[in-house]
Amino acid sequence: MRLVLLGPPGAGKGTQASIIAQRYEVSHISTGDMLREQVKKKTKLGQEAASFMNAGQLVPDKVILDMVRNRLKRKDSEKGFLFDGFPRTVPQAESLNAMLEKAGKPLDAVILLDVKDDFLVNRLTLRRNCPECGSIYHMESKPGRVPGYCDNDGAALVQREDDNEKVVRQRLQVYHEQTAPLVDFYRKTGQLSEVDASQEVARISLTVDRLLEKKAKK
Ligand code: AP5
Repeated sequence: MRLVLLGPPGAGKGTQASIIAQRYEVSHISTGDMLREQVKKKTKLGQEAASFMNAGQLVPDKVILDMVRNRLKRKDSEKGFLFDGFPRTVPQAESLNAMLEKAGKPLDAVILLDVKDDFLVNRLTLRRNCPECGSIYHMESKPGRVPGYCDNDGAALVQREDDNEKVVRQRLQVYHEQTAPLVDFYRKTGQLSEVDASQEVARISLTVDRLLEKKAKK
């Protein structure tokens, strides 16, 4: 199974991706997580990327595409993969198509998690993440057993630097300008399925499951 999860910041791509990756045993490839890893390690790439990320801007296509090309060479992506947060521009999508065509492994589905901006500022400004295992929480809707601490490993939860309201609004604007055109791009290829992502996590997951089962039967 080769999938793309598309949607605005806070749509729930990371939340759904970890459910799908576990259920279908595919590699979860999040370009945002890969970049944050580089930032944490203070690599040259990480330092360059941080200035774009903290300003709510996209990291240049070339940086992202080199990173993805290398990631796809890893053996674990052979069993299938799920892109979360990639592609994000039409040139990224065109390059991905070219890469996958060359490998004879086209995408099976592109799932758009569709949700209005009104929901997203709350979802993102109240999001907290586990710095150890990456689990995603929300201070109101998913606080965890002991609020402020990860259920899996007990680590103190942290807030992403780009989850303050000013940067969130900038990220939403960038989404509408540079990433939303991908909706038409994938609609035209017939690969797009749209899911209402304003519903509860479990309901969205059920809808995605049904959709993937249908695809698998084809
Ligand atoms: P990235 O890490 O990809 O962030 P994003 O796309 O902005 O998406 P988020 O991770 O913020 O949200 P999400 O949709 O995963 O939502 P989540 O499941 O966490 O990118 C960060 C930055 O890196 C970019 O701004 C850019 O600079 C750079 N970058 C990354 N990829 C790039 C690329 N390809 N090209 C160029 N630059 C790139 O959920 C959010 C919150 O809502 C959580 O608290 C969660 O608990 C809650 N929640 C989830 N689902 C629901 C629900 N159904 N109901 C209620 N609450 C929910």
